Order: sequence, then C-alpha cells, then structure tokens
Amino acid sequence: AIADCRIHELPKVHDPRGNLTFIESNRQIPFPIQRVYYLYDVPGGSERGGHAHLALHQFVIAMSGSFDLVLDDGFTRKRVHLNRPYNGLYIPPMTWRELDNFSSGSVCMVLASAVYDEADYLRNYSEFMCRVHSQHQSEPTHRI
Ligand code: TYD
Repeated sequence: AIADCRIHELPKVHDPRGNLTFIESNRQIPFPIQRVYYLYDVPGGSERGGHAHLALHQFVIAMSGSFDLVLDDGFTRKRVHLNRPYNGLYIPPMTWRELDNFSSGSVCMVLASAVYDEADYLRNYSEFMCRVHSQHQSEPTHRI
C-alpha cells in the first residue's frame, strides 16, 4: 500500500571531516539486499521508471543531487522528493513508479531484494491496474 512507501532516515555519523552513513542488509532496510544499481548522467528533463514489480522490494537513495518519484499503488498516487544521501525511500512490490525532475549531476542508487529479472516487471499501466484490482477483490475482507 502507498502508506508503506515511506522515507527512512538512515544512521548518520557526524564528523567535521565529512559525514558517514551506513546500510546493513536486513537492518536499516526491511529486506536482504541482493543487488545494487544506480542511475547517473541523467539528461535534464528525462523520465525513468514507468513500471511496477511483482515481487521486488527496493530502497532508493539520492546519493547526490535530487529527483522526484511518483508512486502509485493502484488506488492512491503521491509524489516524493529525495534530496539527502541519509534518507531512503522504501518501495514495496506492486507499486507503480516514475522518476523525474533529476537535478544535474544527480545519482539515484537503488538497493533491491533480488537480482535482475525482466519477468518480475509490469511495464504496462493498465495491466498493473488489472492485477492490483483483481488481487484486491480476491482478498476475503473485500468480498461482498
Ligand atoms: P529499467 O529497470 O527499465 O530502468 P528504469 O526503471 O530506471 O527506467 O532498466 C533499463 C534497462 O536496464 C533495461 O533494459 C534492463 C536493464 N537492467 C539490467 O540489465 N539490470 C538491472 O539491474 C536493471 C535495473 C536494469
């Protein structure tokens, strides 16, 4: 659900020589990390994302600069701005996401719960909506 897409503040070791933030698999983030990837050299005005994942959990950090994420669980949409390397956004499975508004020189790092698998992607928004709403109807608490 969209309420689970939350910004987590990561530990920060303040130091006049430069601050330090650390992330441990399963500790600061709610899943074991199996993959790390990052977006960089993003041209101004670019949009990325435009998909959901069936099972993948992700944690997104603006390592440098800033960008926006538009998150959509099939019911509610929200825009989140990331601009601090000690904050991370958790994205659970079955969340449609779009990334835009990249500042120049920004770096978007993603920690993921599984290795890359194209079969885990939903790249069509109407298919995503169908899946979300059919799952929703099949949950016993939502039966009429
Ligand atoms: P994609 O996830 O669609 O990018 P974004 O959501 O950031 O716009 O991936 C873009 C391309 O990169 C796609 O062809 C698959 C490839 N890719 C990998 O090979 N490994 C990876 O870990 C990721 C995330 C993407």
